[in-house]
Amino acid sequence: MTKIVFRQPDGSEKTVDVEDDASVMQAAIGNGIDGIVAECGGSLQCATCHVYVEEGLDEMPAMEEMEDEMLECAASPRAPNSRLSCQLHPHGNCERIVVQIPDTQV
Ligand code: FES
Repeated sequence: MTKIVFRQPDGSEKTVDVEDDASVMQAAIGNGIDGIVAECGGSLQCATCHVYVEEGLDEMPAMEEMEDEMLECAASPRAPNSRLSCQLHPHGNCERIVVQIPDTQV
């Protein structure tokens, strides 16, 4: 289990636990985190689950080509630590990650 800190654009934070086989997006939706829209439900069709990974980026799976392409469609500017949260599955060795939610997803 991994602790995920969701940081909102206003600086407020909420920490939730995610099971090993769940994505960061699923943890956000399941815990009512504002700012993660996830219109496509995790099938790499929307880019409305964009996050900036502030801590733990090295613990995440490498970015696949489809995610890389879809990030170009994100509503907020892309940064070196941009990822699509539906593709982020923290593994058991990752105790804590911090993600910044962008100003807008649509
Ligand atoms: S939920 Fe649509 S790309 Fe992640």
